[in-house]
Amino acid sequence: MQYPPALAIVSFHSGAGKTTLLEGIIRILTRMGYRVCVIKHSAHNEIRDSGKDTFKYREAGAAASTLLQSSGYLEVCSQSADLPLAIDVASRFNPDIVLCEGFKDSGLPKIAVVESSELGLGTQLQGVVAFVLKEDVAPVSGVTSLPHDPSAVAAFIESRFLTPRRKVPLTDRYGRRILGIRMSLTQRCNLNCVYCHHEGEGSPSGEMHTDEVLRILRLARDLGMRRVKFTGGEPLLRRDLGGIIAYSYALGFEDVGVTTNGQLLRERALELHEAGLRRLNLSLPSVDPTVYRSITGGDLRNVVEGLEAARRLGIHVKINTVVMRGINDSSIDTILEFARRHSSQLQLIELEDLHLDKGFFEKYHVDLAQTEQMLSGASDSVVERGEMNRRRVYLVKGLPIEIVRPVSNPNFCTGCTRIRVTSDGKVKPCLMRDDLLFDLLGGIRSGWTDDRLKGLFMSAVSAREPFYR
Ligand code: 5AD
Repeated sequence: MQYPPALAIVSFHSGAGKTTLLEGIIRILTRMGYRVCVIKHSAHNEIRDSGKDTFKYREAGAAASTLLQSSGYLEVCSQSADLPLAIDVASRFNPDIVLCEGFKDSGLPKIAVVESSELGLGTQLQGVVAFVLKEDVAPVSGVTSLPHDPSAVAAFIESRFLTPRRKVPLTDRYGRRILGIRMSLTQRCNLNCVYCHHEGEGSPSGEMHTDEVLRILRLARDLGMRRVKFTGGEPLLRRDLGGIIAYSYALGFEDVGVTTNGQLLRERALELHEAGLRRLNLSLPSVDPTVYRSITGGDLRNVVEGLEAARRLGIHVKINTVVMRGINDSSIDTILEFARRHSSQLQLIELEDLHLDKGFFEKYHVDLAQTEQMLSGASDSVVERGEMNRRRVYLVKGLPIEIVRPVSNPNFCTGCTRIRVTSDGKVKPCLMRDDLLFDLLGGIRSGWTDDRLKGLFMSAVSAREPFYR
C-alpha cells in the first residue's frame, strides 16, 4: 500500500491561527483538484473543540476530517502509535495528502509545517521542512520559512509533495489516447469455454495481491486513465473484487466495469452493487441449457438467476455472445429475444484466432458482416458511439445491439484506447501479442518508486502499435 504524504501543522501557542490557515490551504488544494484529509488533534479543550473544527475542514472541502482525542502523540517526532493509525484511517479516503493539525508543544515556534516520510502503519512523522511564521520569529536554520498565507503554503505543498494528476491522457505514437485500463484479476475460472482466448495470457506466474492491484490502479489514475474494466479468468472468484471496485471509484475512475461469466453473480450482485458497480458484461454464448453446457461446461440457470439479480439492482448488463458456426449462429434470434426480455444490451462478437487451435478457428469462425447487414435492415435506429472508432449500436425493437468485428479490422485497432494489465501484473499493450509485456508487478515487488513504475507504464504506451493495419 502506498500511503499519501502527511504533513503536520503545529504551533507552540494556541490562538496562533492554525485553523484559519488550514481552512485556506484545504480550500485551495481542493480547488486544484486534490483530495485532502485532515486529522485534528484535540488533547485539550476537547469539549469546546470537539467536532467544531473538523466540521470547518469538511466545509472547506476536505474529503474526510477526523478528530483524535488521545494525548499519546503530543510530542511530534516521538514514538507514538496513534498518529500512524490515524493516517492509516485517513488513507482509506484515498487522499492525495493528509494534513494533521494541532500537535501542541512541539518545541517549534508559532506554527510549523512538519513533513513525514512515506507513512505506513507503525512509522511516524519525521523532520521539519517548513515553518509558517505568523509573527516575527527568528528563522530556524535548515528549514524553509513561509508566510502565514494559505496560498503560499498550498503552493509550497503542491510543489514539494504533490505530483499533479494528468488531466490530459497519455497518447501513443499513433495518436491514440489511453483512456482505459483492462485488468485481469485472475486466470482461474470456474468454466472451461471452448472458445476462450484467456485474454491473451500464456501461462501466468501467480496473481497480484490486493495492495498491488490498488497500487496499479492508482498509477493508472495518475496517468490520466478514466475507465477500468476487470476481467479474468473469472474475476468473481476473487473475494476482494468489491473492495477493488470501491477503491476504483474512490480514486476517481468515472467508469468501472466487470466482465463475468455470471456463475457466481446471484451470490455477489448485492455486494458488487454496494461497492458501486453499475454495469457489467456477461459472457453468454447460448441460452439453450444443453448448448450452454457443451460450450462452457457450466449450468445456465446460475447465469440467468445472476442476471436477474443484477437487473433487479439496476445494474446495466451487456451480454457478450461469441458467435460460432454451427453452434449458436443459427439461434441469434433467440438470444436477441432473451436479451430483450432481461432488458439488457447485446454484443455479438466475432471469434478471434488467439490461443485457439487453427483447425478450431477455421471450423467455427463466422464473419459477422452479414449479421451486421441483417441487423442494420431490421433496426429502428442506429447510434454511433463517440468512442471505439464510432462503433454502431443498432436498436432492434428497443434492444441495443453491437457487433464486434476485430479480426483483420484496422478500424478496430485505430479505435483502441485501452491498455491491458495481465493477472500476473504485466502491462500488455495489445491483446493479440505475447511478445510485448512490461513487468510492473516485478517492479513493485522490487520496491520501485511510483515515478519509476509510471515510467515503465509509459514505455508500454509508447510500444503500442496497431495489430491490424
Ligand atoms: N474470440 C472473441 N471473443 C472472445 N472472448 C473470449 N474468447 C474469445 C475469442 N476467442 C470474449 C468473450 C468474453 C470476453 C471476456 O472475451 O466475449 O465475454
